Amino acid sequence: MQLPNYREAKTRDKREYQTHSYHLLEKYKKKYEGKTYFLKTYGCQMNEHDSENIMGILEEMGFRFVDSMEDADLILLNTCSIRENAHNKAFGFLGRIKHLKETKKDLMVGLCGCMAQEEVVANTIKEKYPWLTFVIGTHNFYQLPEVLEEALKTKTLQIEVYSREQDLIEKMPSNRKSKYKAYVNIIYGCDKFCTYCIVPYTRGRQRSRKKEDILKEIESLVKEGYQEVTLLGQNVNAYGKDLYDNYSLAELLTDVSKTKIKRIRFMTSHPWDFTNEMIDVIAKYDNIMPSIHLPVQSGSNRILKLMGRRYTKEEYLTLFHKMKEKIKNCAISTDIIVGFPGETEEDFEETLDLVKTCKYDNAFTFLYSPRVGTPAAKLEDNVSKEEKEARLYRLNDLVNTYFLENNKKLVGKTIPVLVEGKSLKKKGEYFGYSDTQKLVNFTSDKDYEGEIVPVLITDAKTWSLDGKVSRS
Ligand code: SAH
Ligand code: SF4
Ligand code: F3S
Repeated sequence: MQLPNYREAKTRDKREYQTHSYHLLEKYKKKYEGKTYFLKTYGCQMNEHDSENIMGILEEMGFRFVDSMEDADLILLNTCSIRENAHNKAFGFLGRIKHLKETKKDLMVGLCGCMAQEEVVANTIKEKYPWLTFVIGTHNFYQLPEVLEEALKTKTLQIEVYSREQDLIEKMPSNRKSKYKAYVNIIYGCDKFCTYCIVPYTRGRQRSRKKEDILKEIESLVKEGYQEVTLLGQNVNAYGKDLYDNYSLAELLTDVSKTKIKRIRFMTSHPWDFTNEMIDVIAKYDNIMPSIHLPVQSGSNRILKLMGRRYTKEEYLTLFHKMKEKIKNCAISTDIIVGFPGETEEDFEETLDLVKTCKYDNAFTFLYSPRVGTPAAKLEDNVSKEEKEARLYRLNDLVNTYFLENNKKLVGKTIPVLVEGKSLKKKGEYFGYSDTQKLVNFTSDKDYEGEIVPVLITDAKTWSLDGKVSRS
């Protein structure tokens, strides 16, 4: 049994990382033929992509996916720790599984993902959920075959969670959700330690994947017919810093743009590491999408400092305007936290002012949620929950007006859309995403699924656009 430990999770040293190729031992191949699994994913794109890898591994082991947990022999939860409600959802789900387990004694249940890396969660599971089959962490989920085997052999809960990051594993099987859009990891972990955030503890130190491995993966995705890749990391703009002297996200984007992939996206960007060279590269290549997620978190310098974000509002705005000026039709989205400990009405109004300046194309807004073990959780907080909720409401009202305003500017224009499928609601209607990551519902006489087609925008809503294919 290996339990998580935050002191260890926090350590950063100069260790070099080896790269290993994933290989499923012969004895596990098709071992579970005839068995079924159900997998539920919480959290960010990193977790979604980990789930694709987990599904790939399970399917090599012979498991078959079912979309109802009642029909599954194995239920897996890939969890998220970012806010309290993510926790509550996962524990609520475990409650439902417990009922199933009472009537289905052989049901296997596993928990993985970021919650597995939390000291408090591992201890709670040991005490209150001993009926689980296994818990594995984010650093070693590829060991699922061995851990499952041990749990079944010993008939006891296996907790295998490493607090420190492990070497990088390449060539993991992946059961990708989309046939047209693919996630590609470029950097794991995060070294920023924003004071409110649990990710550096659950995902460990920053480790970049080798450029050759990334480019090879993208080249084979192109051959398989993929149209779009999203380069993933908690802070993609730090790419290469731990690995190369002169190779950063700017160079990686340049190399990726030279593959034949039609669309390149990347997320998430931390303003601190965003260089002028990166902006120039995004502006230069047509297959790098003019869409940037640039979390600001707060518009108050006092709060930004307490958050440990390493930039001021003025520095953020300079970067923001540079992007808008250099990258044609650039859409910028953001994340904002409301109700950080001690946030005053004045601090909050500064956030509103910043939103009025930036007029974001999209914004994800969150109520601050204290995470055990992070520095911010120890700060005094005298703002009531009601006040915080009222602020979130005011903020959402404001950001929504700009979503609509920006969308309206596209009415009458023809924009490129990657067609993802048929609308479930209306016959003859399709949906897809524009270059600037806007959801477009449109009519077409022909099914262009998987292609990028020009769509004339006819109407704008807050969260989507309507249109028709302008190709005969
Ligand atoms: N690496 C990314 C974001 C990762 S988490 C970045 O730095 O931008 C996604 C978002 O969740 C963050 O941008 C932040 O807005 C929000 N978040 C993180 N920790 C939070 C907390 N403790 N409470 C509320 N929101 C939080
Ligand atoms: Fe969390 Fe900050 Fe790292 Fe983003 S940059 S994952 S908010 S510590
Ligand atoms: Fe959640 Fe872990 Fe992602 S905490 S947001 S799943 S990195």
